[in-house]
Amino acid sequence: MVAAHTDLNIAALEAEYSQKSPREILKLALETFDNMAISFSGAEDVVLIDLASKITKNFRVFTLDTGRLHPETYQFLDKVREYYGIKLEVMFPDAAEVQALVEEKGLFSFYQDGHKECCGVRKVRPLRRKLNTLDAWVTGQRKDQSPSTRNHIPVIELDTAFSTADHQLIKFNPLANWSSAQVWEYIRGLDLPYNKLHDRGFISIGCEPCTRPVLPNQHEREGRWWWEESTAKECGLHVGNLQK
Ligand code: ADX
Ligand code: SF4
Repeated sequence: MVAAHTDLNIAALEAEYSQKSPREILKLALETFDNMAISFSGAEDVVLIDLASKITKNFRVFTLDTGRLHPETYQFLDKVREYYGIKLEVMFPDAAEVQALVEEKGLFSFYQDGHKECCGVRKVRPLRRKLNTLDAWVTGQRKDQSPSTRNHIPVIELDTAFSTADHQLIKFNPLANWSSAQVWEYIRGLDLPYNKLHDRGFISIGCEPCTRPVLPNQHEREGRWWWEESTAKECGLHVGNLQK
């Protein structure tokens, strides 16, 4: 276990691990950092939790409860908690910030002036609060999720969006090179629990007002913030993707 991580050569690790399996990448993350956690959205990234549970009993998972998730997602989050016997660390938005936004602009302002403001309150700032306490985090991002913003994501990177001058944060994306088909082969092959919204045509799942099922041959990202430009479809959790 490394105590200070300023000595990690991220570029060398990325080169070494870029073609390795999700399991090997996750194992590296778990073995290198004791102060790390997996971010779980309540969708097909359950694969990460399953992989971690087969490596160690000692791993952490957090989720951002925006207050606007589908009932099916809440049910699934709880199912995963029970199925794996894990504690789910839940981050909530700041109540005063939500109150100020809703009182000023109502509950659906994102349809008028974009999702950035609401995502900032309900997702990004709670995420920042969590990440300020961690040295590394693991996400379920994949290249195939978004041709316009995710096709270059590395398996290991310095999180330029959430690191600060005195706090370096490392981000692992173990599923980066997996396709949606591989993820679903894994879920079905092991008969893992999944979010019931997938039975109703949802592929990518976020908040209820900002997610819809897609038509045959529509890209999964078209079901998210569909009223906005596709190049802007990052809510801020992975804003570093837009800087590359
Ligand atoms: S988003 O930025 O568009 O919302 P997406 O739904 O593609 O992200 O999920 C990619 C990864 O971001 C997930 O696998 C997960 O690691 C993280 N993530 C997304 N939403 C959440 C959430 N509500 N709570 C925790 N992690 C999340
Ligand atoms: Fe708000 Fe929609 Fe962003 Fe959820 S996805 S935080 S409801 S703008």
